[in-house]
Amino acid sequence: MSISKAASSKLTSQNTIEKRLQIQRLQEPTLIVSPSAGSDVVKGLTQTPKSLPPRYFYDDHGSELFEQICELSEYYVTRTETAILQQCAGEIALITDHCELVELGSGSSTKTRILLDAYNELSYPLRYLPIDVSAGMLESSARQLLADYPSLQVHALAGTYELALAELKPAKLPNRMICFIGSSLGNMNSQECDVFFSQITDALEIGEYVLLGVDLQKPKHLLEAAYNDSQGVTAAFNLNMLEHLNRQFEGNFDTTQFEHWAFYNETKNQIEMHLRSLRSQTIQLRTLNLTVHFEAGETILTEISRKFDLNSIQQALKAKSLVPQKVWTDPNQWFGLLLCQLQASTAV
Ligand code: AVI
Repeated sequence: MSISKAASSKLTSQNTIEKRLQIQRLQEPTLIVSPSAGSDVVKGLTQTPKSLPPRYFYDDHGSELFEQICELSEYYVTRTETAILQQCAGEIALITDHCELVELGSGSSTKTRILLDAYNELSYPLRYLPIDVSAGMLESSARQLLADYPSLQVHALAGTYELALAELKPAKLPNRMICFIGSSLGNMNSQECDVFFSQITDALEIGEYVLLGVDLQKPKHLLEAAYNDSQGVTAAFNLNMLEHLNRQFEGNFDTTQFEHWAFYNETKNQIEMHLRSLRSQTIQLRTLNLTVHFEAGETILTEISRKFDLNSIQQALKAKSLVPQKVWTDPNQWFGLLLCQLQASTAV
């Protein structure tokens, strides 16, 4: 029986996808899920005030809830950055020329398509290196991109930013741009930011680029609405961290006995997201051999989301030899996209 034309072309396209896709796992899958086997949880819950690392938001359900947050009318972040990117992607492609894209925390790579379209339009070669801890997510989004962009090459790196940046080989195209969009920089404190910038500059050659998305300072009521949405999705996202810990470490957090609490700290220019204990209670995380007591009203800090000032962030980047080449923002100046180039340090 002869194979139909449609089936044969599907097979050919499948073959070319396999040839254009490389997935490099930088850690064992189990280690990706739990690099420190919960020592960060023990540290956070035994200190005063209590805190938990935001990476525990992102189990499968947490990632779904985050996708829903991005669609909320109060959460202006995603749509504002997307609109800016749509406007300036052509200019970014012209400035960076034949340039491979490295994306940190690529997730579903939705915004990446805007950039790929811009390079495609100029008939530039397309090479994409997404980095994410979720190998499954990397593979499925890479396959979709490869099906939609027939000339695209993908080299995906499954692991933490730190490992992946240290593992990057010299660019195969004349230029390289590391994209860190979505304002995740805001979820790092200033020390973590410093370390992160050093990892970026170590990974780049002089003349290569970084594209950075940052959420900007704005009136308190807009910020607080974005992190206390009327449908309660952000509250569910915050509380889901406890479910995640229950599953991962055999815990007995009762999520009905905690509440979501988020506010804008105007002194530090950051949203602070907490879980507040509704009563005096003791919980256990069996696999961590950990018992934790909460007073009624006691809180766990689960996330900071820093809001930047465009001048100060440009100064901070320049101090790291990441020199802003062009900055784009929206008409309300709610969000900023900065294209920086690594230049030789002038410090003596
Ligand atoms: C991932 N990050 C940029 C989000 C933010 O806005 O800081 C996480 C988030 N937390 C609550 N809503 C969204």
